Amino acid sequence: MCRPTHFAVTYRINPWMDPTAPYDNALAISQWETLRQTYLDLGHTVELIEPLPGLPDMVFAANGATMVDGRVLGVQFRDAERADEAPAYAAWFTERGYPVSMPKHTNEGEGDLLLAGDIMLAGTGFRTAHAAHAETQEALQRPVITLQLVDPAYYHLDTALCVLDDTNVAYLPEAFSPGSQAVLRQLYPHAVLADRADAAVLGLNAVSDGRTVVLPVQATHLAAALREAGYQTVGVDVSELRKAGGGPKCCTLEVRP
Ligand code: ARG
Repeated sequence: MCRPTHFAVTYRINPWMDPTAPYDNALAISQWETLRQTYLDLGHTVELIEPLPGLPDMVFAANGATMVDGRVLGVQFRDAERADEAPAYAAWFTERGYPVSMPKHTNEGEGDLLLAGDIMLAGTGFRTAHAAHAETQEALQRPVITLQLVDPAYYHLDTALCVLDDTNVAYLPEAFSPGSQAVLRQLYPHAVLADRADAAVLGLNAVSDGRTVVLPVQATHLAAALREAGYQTVGVDVSELRKAGGGPKCCTLEVRP
């Protein structure tokens, strides 16, 4: 995770961001601290990366890399505003003894590349390039399934789909193309389906350890559906970070040594 010390909304690279609207940096930090404490209370280890001035979106650690089985694939941001985050996250891994392969194509890390059991689900349409999916399969040596995102509000896969455990996911069907919806129905016949109200509070931008799902507290319908499906839920309020288009998952990069 990356403390939102320098969090701000000063540019607009997704429809959630309004640089003319007010935001509260101190509130963003306290909401982020609560998310971090939630992970610690659940028994997880949280490692931190030093936030860099001039990179207001660096809090969104999910976009920093993708790590599977100790292999690390770095990132290449679509937008110049975030470009300098890529070497910073790569350095975090190399300093800890994990060599990082850097991608040739636009690749926004776990924003679009989600490990789901033995396979990777890979989003494209707005950020991560389709060509990056083949590159990911080569680098991480897992089968990659391409999913086409169609709604600009759900610009990263992790805003439209949450991996719940090795065999199930939650998602908003309308965020995907008809063909990708069919693929998701085939792969996950028992998926938890979110509704538009859940997605509109970035409810799907959630983190599951297979048992407990940490999700935005405002996503009440989704939380009930998850409990119905046998998961425990913990709601967190990260409304200030939502002003940049991010939620709990965006703030969280999974380290898989
Ligand atoms: N403002 C950031 C961007 O548009 C938000 C990134 C959210 N991260 C995520 N994993 N969905 O790039």
